[in-house]
Amino acid sequence: RTRPGAVVTDWVAPVSDADLAEAATALFRAEFGGLPDGVWAAPGRVNLIGEHVDYADGLSLPIALPHRTVVAVRGRGDGRLRLRSGLTPWDGAVADVAPGAPSGWAAYLAGVVWAMRRDGMLGGNFGVDVAVASAVPIGAGLSSSAALECALAIALADLAGLSTDDGVRATLATCCVAAENEIALAPTGGMDQAVSLRATAAHALLVDSADGSVGQVPFDLAGNGLALLVIDTRAPHRLVDGQYAERRRSVEKAAEVLGVPTLRVAADEGLDVAVLGDRDLVRRARHVVTEIGRVREVLPLLNSGRLRDIGPLMTASHTSLREDFEVSCPELDSAVDVALAAGAHGARMTGGGFGGSAIALVEASEVDQVAVEVLSTARSRGLVTPAFLRVDTGGGPA
Ligand code: ADP
Ligand code: GAL
Repeated sequence: RTRPGAVVTDWVAPVSDADLAEAATALFRAEFGGLPDGVWAAPGRVNLIGEHVDYADGLSLPIALPHRTVVAVRGRGDGRLRLRSGLTPWDGAVADVAPGAPSGWAAYLAGVVWAMRRDGMLGGNFGVDVAVASAVPIGAGLSSSAALECALAIALADLAGLSTDDGVRATLATCCVAAENEIALAPTGGMDQAVSLRATAAHALLVDSADGSVGQVPFDLAGNGLALLVIDTRAPHRLVDGQYAERRRSVEKAAEVLGVPTLRVAADEGLDVAVLGDRDLVRRARHVVTEIGRVREVLPLLNSGRLRDIGPLMTASHTSLREDFEVSCPELDSAVDVALAAGAHGARMTGGGFGGSAIALVEASEVDQVAVEVLSTARSRGLVTPAFLRVDTGGGPA
């Protein structure tokens, strides 16, 4: 029993790979009989800064979550797929995978097999049985879909006898993006898959979407007495909805009007707002250009160990996403404002927005206190009750 007036926060704890492997293997045995060839894992992510810029060839700085997805996989030689998770089961042939088919969750897995076969990484008769177990909250803006794709991509590369070094991981990331864009029909960029496959512990990953290159940037939270509080607002969030695609189109339109291939060029060379004219287009482009600039300001701070000093840039990123890019929502704004008032060094929405999660950079000793403030304010404002994740160090490789 809780004391009257006490606030109970809902923490989403990570689950160890061993426990996830056990759960995925149990599901595998129950569904298919026998044992999988192996189990493979990949993490969800939060983005520290560099939001809504990956599809404009921009710079992002995500970290891998300690919350991961595990797949138990067995290869088969008849080109068939059997896919199982807690959701509706799916059976089919790799040859029948096509844009929009299958629909729903199975598209992310079937799409990865399809893309790796298309790119010659898998033979024509390659098929798999897959069972999934995950500790990444679904639909919370924490890239549960990328974790699912990337866990399978690593599994398939391993089963196909490919190496799983960083070069292969870069190629796998492009296959996962193809699965998401071309089969699941979600028009997302490549940041999520890059970090899920290429992150290392205690580092943020600098993702340069202009050429797909990545860099490891020191980000040792625990070693600096800090933690990231992730606030899953539980406000509904649907990337497949039209809003994300609409923002992406505006960004592409702005580049077209400016006569540049992508807004990265405007970020590098200067944005001529007079040429854009249209007020909304100016605001969308200004977000992208200033956000890439903020990532550039964060880099030397992290490289010199000044983690606390990135706080104001995180908060400025949120303001830009709220005012110029218009992808925030009352639940995210409330979480950010309350976390800042409760002592966070910086706070912002993370991921695609329109719901989903916010992050706050806080002293490790103050995580609980900030969470309680966010929760009680959400309640008093009549907002849906948020859940919380705590990150003390970025996750390691898949
Ligand atoms: P987010 O990245 O916010 O979690 P997405 O819309 O990108 O949201 O991905 C969520 C979708 O990914 C789910 O609706 C489901 O189709 C699929 N998915 C993610 N994790 C799992 C899982 N563990 N089992 C089955 N499907 C999953
Ligand atoms: C989603 C999407 C990413 C990125 C992000 C916004 O998470 O999958 O590719 O565009 O929104 O920064």
